[in-house]
Amino acid sequence: MTPEDILKEIAAQASVCKRCALHHSRKLAVPGVGDPYTSIMFIGEGPGFHENEQGLPFVGAAGKFLDELLGEASMNRGDVFITNVVKCRPPGNRDPNTEELTACKTYLDRQIATINPDVIVTLGRISMGYYIQNGKISAIHGKSFWLSGRMVVPMYHPAAALHQPSLRAVIKADFSKLPGLISQAKKTRQTNLGLAAMTHKDEDDAPGEENGTEQLSLFEEQLDK
Ligand code: URA
Ligand code: SF4
Repeated sequence: MTPEDILKEIAAQASVCKRCALHHSRKLAVPGVGDPYTSIMFIGEGPGFHENEQGLPFVGAAGKFLDELLGEASMNRGDVFITNVVKCRPPGNRDPNTEELTACKTYLDRQIATINPDVIVTLGRISMGYYIQNGKISAIHGKSFWLSGRMVVPMYHPAAALHQPSLRAVIKADFSKLPGLISQAKKTRQTNLGLAAMTHKDEDDAPGEENGTEQLSLFEEQLDK
């Protein structure tokens, strides 16, 4: 199956999913959209009113601002993949709860595995929690972390900037760093692949020699700044 086929299959499953109570308030599931071959994925919180009506992520006011933010990084929706940690709208736009997040994780996990992006941007506190449990978004927004073999960049949620105008410049500055972070992430992944290949070769040539794990973790630390 091609990545397109797998993403379509995930979307079809989410559209009829009853794994959590959010299916009761769903009109349309919002699995996510974008380029299956992109190097960057954006993960929001969950569908709101307009998303639930249209079946597409970030089509309301926060979505308009997200388009503007993508522009700061010289990108548009066609270049990226946009999704949410839960695919169905929580009633009244409340935060999704742990049960719902856990139930829906299978879809996001499979989307990430299929797209295999170099960089993941989490939008807001809830989606940051998918990767970083005790992080403080005010302290770590716009920073890069090397987690599960890719770069993760927590950012404020675009809706936060709509409610708090002082955050607008902050979130714009964070987005403008993305092209540089993508190049950095690509290079690191290539280097890590090379190191892994060398390590396997070393293992074949000289069994018992030190493997490359420490070198790999060194690279990981360098990115955690
Ligand atoms: N907010 C989100 O987190 N996701 C959407 O899709 C829309 C608004
Ligand atoms: Fe299924 Fe996720 Fe929708 Fe819950 S939110 S019903 S787990 S698709």
